[in-house]
Amino acid sequence: MNIPFLDLNAQNAPLRAEIDRAIAEVIDCSAFAGGPFVARFEEEFAAFCDTKHAIGVGSGTEALWLALLAKGVGPGDEVITVPSTFMATAEAISYCGAQPVFVDIDEDTYTLDPEKLQAAMTPWTKAIIPVHLFGQTADMDPILAFARERGLAVIEDAAQAHGATYKGRKAGSIADAGCFSFYPGKNLGAFGEAGAIVTNDDLLAEKMRILRDHGQVKKYHHTMVGWNCRMDGIQAAVLSIKLRRLENGNKLRRSHARQYAEALHSVDGVVTPVTSDNCEHVFHVYAVRVQEREAVMRYLADQGIGSAIHYPVPVHLQEAYSDLGYGPGSFPVAERCATEFLSLPMFPELTPDQVNTVAGALEEAIAATTSSACSGITADLVALRQA
Ligand SMILES: Cc1ncc(COP(=O)(O)O)c(C=O)c1O
Repeated sequence: MNIPFLDLNAQNAPLRAEIDRAIAEVIDCSAFAGGPFVARFEEEFAAFCDTKHAIGVGSGTEALWLALLAKGVGPGDEVITVPSTFMATAEAISYCGAQPVFVDIDEDTYTLDPEKLQAAMTPWTKAIIPVHLFGQTADMDPILAFARERGLAVIEDAAQAHGATYKGRKAGSIADAGCFSFYPGKNLGAFGEAGAIVTNDDLLAEKMRILRDHGQVKKYHHTMVGWNCRMDGIQAAVLSIKLRRLENGNKLRRSHARQYAEALHSVDGVVTPVTSDNCEHVFHVYAVRVQEREAVMRYLADQGIGSAIHYPVPVHLQEAYSDLGYGPGSFPVAERCATEFLSLPMFPELTPDQVNTVAGALEEAIAATTSSACSGITADLVALRQA
């Protein structure tokens, strides 16, 4: 059985006629950049996130960048985030002229460890970006309490967490602003590049709307130097259709995750993801931790099973950030996870049979690849969680 890591065709095929009609409508109206389809999607997405505003932009990277700019982050400022994320989180900070400062992640949830914030704080700290990695929100209450006491902005990187909740609150709605990516493979994916920022802050929303459209308040009247970050009409029309399926897709992902966990919890040498009691996870990525990862991936590939690594190099060790002065050992949890994370196939259209096949193949792969797979930290974690 061939089981791809991700199968977008399986998601799009049943929607094809509806999407074709929606795209034709955008063409008929020539509403290609911004316009009524974007406005409608913004309203729908704000309602979905329980926020007053949603601002459609060109990508998740732009969403983060604009949110930081609108909060006044600029040259000389520092913004705290995690090294276990996609490069875009840190890039957005750099593109404001500010400097990313990293803190390590929690060993169980793989999100920002609030205990580590104090050590990263300096007189130049202006904001914090917790990343809701893999579809689970960071532990937001202690992060917000820390930020509020010190007058820091908090921007959620919710690019992987559409529909996730923290203590009943929707990802993106918890802090000053929440930033989403609609990159095609995301839980809510466009047919190209797109993103959005959500917020309950009227002034911030207004500022971000102006900034995303060249800083203009009305045509050819510019009150700020902005940029072109508008969302495309075609992307918005596609997203409106897919948004109606998002909750159900997330439910199916959780069901696959439960099935993986049941099948793998007793397999020595595999650490399955932990969902915090405060969170409803949306499993954008189902990442287990294993030793001998490359051999395990090869074994799975030989069985026709796709897998991936999110992410092989933590951001603080990327060559692009060598000037920040971090080195190996700076963030031990993030670094260990980066060598052990292995993402298994996860998309709503997976069947229970396919999940079983993947779990069975992973168990065989672990047995086949190494008799010492259960050494080191993974073994310790497995033992702890099985106790
Ligand atoms: C955690 C995280 N932040 C930001 C982004 C950037 O989003 P985009 O690719 O839409 O610019 C991504 C996209 O993969 C992401 O996973």
